[in-house]
Amino acid sequence: MAGKIAQSFIDDLLSRADIVEVVGRTVTLKKAGRDFQGLCPFHNEKTPSFTVSPEKQFYHCFGCGAHGSAIGFLMNHDSLGFVEAVEDLAGGLHLAVQYESEGPTPTANYTPLYELMTAAQACYARLLREHPTKERAVEYLKRRGLTGAVAKTFGLGYAPAGWETLVNQLGVDAARRAQLVDAGLAVPRDNGTFYDRFRDRIIFPILDRRGRCVGLGGRIIDQGEPKYLNSPETPIFRKRQELYGLHYVLKHGHRPERVLVVEGYMDVVALAQHRVNNAVATLGTATTGEQLELIFRHVTEIVFCFDGDNAGRRAAWRALETVLPLLLEGRKAGFLFLPQGQDPDSLVRSEGAARFESPEHITPLSTFLFDQLAARADTSSLDGRAQLIALARPLIGKVPVGPFRQLLIQHLEKIAQTRVQMGQAQSFSPPANPSPPRALPSRATPQAGRVPSLLRRAISLLVHQPSLAPLARDLPAIDVALNDEAALLFTLLERLTANPSAQVGTLLESLRDSPLWPLLEEVMGLPMLLDETQWEAEFSGAIEQLLKQRQRQRYRRLVSEKSRLSGVDHELPGAPGV
Ligand code: UTP
Ligand code: MN
Repeated sequence: MAGKIAQSFIDDLLSRADIVEVVGRTVTLKKAGRDFQGLCPFHNEKTPSFTVSPEKQFYHCFGCGAHGSAIGFLMNHDSLGFVEAVEDLAGGLHLAVQYESEGPTPTANYTPLYELMTAAQACYARLLREHPTKERAVEYLKRRGLTGAVAKTFGLGYAPAGWETLVNQLGVDAARRAQLVDAGLAVPRDNGTFYDRFRDRIIFPILDRRGRCVGLGGRIIDQGEPKYLNSPETPIFRKRQELYGLHYVLKHGHRPERVLVVEGYMDVVALAQHRVNNAVATLGTATTGEQLELIFRHVTEIVFCFDGDNAGRRAAWRALETVLPLLLEGRKAGFLFLPQGQDPDSLVRSEGAARFESPEHITPLSTFLFDQLAARADTSSLDGRAQLIALARPLIGKVPVGPFRQLLIQHLEKIAQTRVQMGQAQSFSPPANPSPPRALPSRATPQAGRVPSLLRRAISLLVHQPSLAPLARDLPAIDVALNDEAALLFTLLERLTANPSAQVGTLLESLRDSPLWPLLEEVMGLPMLLDETQWEAEFSGAIEQLLKQRQRQRYRRLVSEKSRLSGVDHELPGAPGV
């Protein structure tokens, strides 16, 4: 497991990194005063409310509350883990990550594994151009209607029929051969020799969202079993977390309006050849919540493509159950059902791109949901309508609180002809997800109607504008042990007194491991007044009120203390006079 990255290194890293450059890789930023502005990549917007401050090394969206340092941006936007984000940032600056000297073993270094996968991909791509039997593969691809251009775009390759092609090319010494086994590219024989896992197959490199080869899929040429073979899971290849084609979709100029989830690699490639540039495929498993969350970080709509047959509808139902909990406000999902016996590959060839592009072919999730429910419960009878409610309630209950959930309930009530109680409203919780919670987007969950406490208000202003700290110097140290909010405010004030010029990004990252981090994240998501010139007044106002609160509390305490003590005097004769 990862050793702990030294805090001093993180401070140093953030002071050298340029958040404008990091964010600017994916968001078009325009200078606006001392800051930069652009369209928020974390929610859909037409006018820019996303601000990046080079001075503070901090980004913040006034629209949705997304915020953080350069590290936080890489975590939330590129879905990197903390260590990955630090490594990414450090790599760009040619800095070696420093770990705490006494920590556990340092992070496993996966660079050789990535390099090996890239080398294997390159080798198979070369064999498609150069191997004496390459015609077999080229003919096959032509027969499937693929152009050389699209084969190149997706880096397709050819694993010839022999047993030791890759082993001979890359397995130059014992260490390399062991690496090939670890990467799932070669298999050891009992006699100590090795053979290739992929033989007589078309190779589909599986790239992670950042374009690094993490695994391979191989389709048998012509007949044979299994039809598709994937490389096994490795530390860099988690099938439930990767999507074939996602890198292509994201790098393809502007972001698409929606992403299509299809079943096959061949479907993604064929669609791309017909300029349908927004398709991704799962890796031979049902779609996971993690995969959908990954897509939703980049677009607001997911459309699942399935066969129109019974098996397709069953798969669509599973997808529906997976996506319901992820339908936060602003996100939507739908289905594109294909005619019997067709897959996207065959359909795009016969009917063209429009079949996948025009929204009229998309069945909204709500339509599919209620159609399926109606097929299971006869709504003409009272008993059937009760059954409908019983079926629908747990499903609608998965949808996060918001307008979509509300509309589903209203629709259910209309069909059921009665009011429907949903019970405990469920707030958004991410799907069962083995990745650490810190990888989740730090988007504000707008707390409708709830007025943030004074302390929260003060904390949020202070972090956004550390130069406000001196205004709080009269605030007496509140009994911080009793209250996380007070503890956080005083921790921040302490750090800012020690280092008045601390940048926001650095300040935030210095608290990532603190128990106060979740509170800090929450508070940072509070809506802010757009006009920065008012922050100071707001902050002094909050501090003033806190002071008054303190005085009132002190006064009340004094009064009650006094009456307690006078009572005590009477009960304890002989006690020294107070
Ligand atoms: P399909 O069998 O529907 O293949 O499998 P396809 O995409 O239409 O492929 P072609 O057109 O026959 O070449 C869809 C996906 O299921 C997984 C693969 O990820 C494949 O892309 N699969 C399928 C396997 O993992 N193993 C198999 O044996 C078959
Ligand atoms: Mn097919």
